[in-house]
Amino acid sequence: MLARTAVRALANSRQFSSSAARQTKVAVLGAGGGIGQPLSLLLKNDPLVTSLSLYDIRGAPGVAADVSHIDTPSEVHGYAADKLDEALEGVKVVVIPAGVPRKPGMTRDDLFNTNASIVRDLAAAVGRVAPEAHILVISNPVNSTVPIVSAVLEKLGVYDPRRVFGVTTLDVVRAARFLGGIAGADPADTRVTVIGGHSGATIVPLLSQTEKGKGITGEVYDQLVHRIQFGGDEVVKAKDGAGSATLSMAYAGATFTHALLRGLSGEKGVITPTFVKSPLYEDQGIDFFSSNVELGPNGVEKIHPIGEISAQEEKLLAACLPDLKKNIEKGKAFVAQS
Ligand code: NAI
Repeated sequence: MLARTAVRALANSRQFSSSAARQTKVAVLGAGGGIGQPLSLLLKNDPLVTSLSLYDIRGAPGVAADVSHIDTPSEVHGYAADKLDEALEGVKVVVIPAGVPRKPGMTRDDLFNTNASIVRDLAAAVGRVAPEAHILVISNPVNSTVPIVSAVLEKLGVYDPRRVFGVTTLDVVRAARFLGGIAGADPADTRVTVIGGHSGATIVPLLSQTEKGKGITGEVYDQLVHRIQFGGDEVVKAKDGAGSATLSMAYAGATFTHALLRGLSGEKGVITPTFVKSPLYEDQGIDFFSSNVELGPNGVEKIHPIGEISAQEEKLLAACLPDLKKNIEKGKAFVAQS
């Protein structure tokens, strides 16, 4: 499983990074938030990060001062609301968890009105100040915010589709955990490829491709798929108005960031699902899609096909594609009208 691999790689790269002296500056935009704070903490503990730049419209200097006392070698700087350009200077990777989270009863699409403009403006700043940076979008709705970031960079003439990623890792983490629970197995042994997008029916877990998942049928199968697709709602409900997943999301965000940093540093075979500009369903007018992606020195190295899937998964995919198409078009239209 990616997470377990990441932990092992973390241990190995601790040694490697000190001798290689690579410079990898990572920025977190929205660092003062529910995700931003624990994500900053986890990135401070990532040996592949040499410098951490924490920005938010409120609270980032405090988070930076706090995190900076942790005894790992990376530098940490915090930037207040008017210091966005400074925060982005020289960054190689920008992680964006800025924006409002869901409250009970809301879908991710309900966040569009607020988060679309936040993400658009942050992407424009990255395009201006750090046009070569890799951008990891956590802010929801990911199915729309990734097309927004891409369209903004395109307008600025600095878009490289290999460097823009929607972070769907939490779906992968949940799928492994929930399947592990049912199969009575370590989640490290129940890794599931999750394709499509990142909301409700657009989340398509390929259980048939896993040893422990392929035998699951009937009601148990339906419930498992539903839980992977709507697991976020469990957290929103339990937090009762105080937001959505933050801690598990920070873990997922740090895991994906670490995977990208491994790829950027030249490690081969780093493969994980992520929502990127993709040719897989382009003929159906869907040009962003999550499937297994190999990460390398330039970001996206290779987009893997989805492989063989079951009849049930064909049905899930058929339900995913029209929704995904609408979400993508909504993001593009927003930038076109801006
Ligand atoms: P939060 O409200 O706790 O934190 C958001 C932070 O963004 C706040 O500190 C706020 O000041 C900051 N912010 C707002 N506008 C900003 C701007 N223009 N520039 C910089 N910072 C700005 O929310 P939380 O729980 O951290 O969630 C953040 C986003 O992540 C939400 O959109 C949520 O839906 C999304 N999310 C995504 C997941 C995924 O799997 N991709 C999973 C869970 C949440």
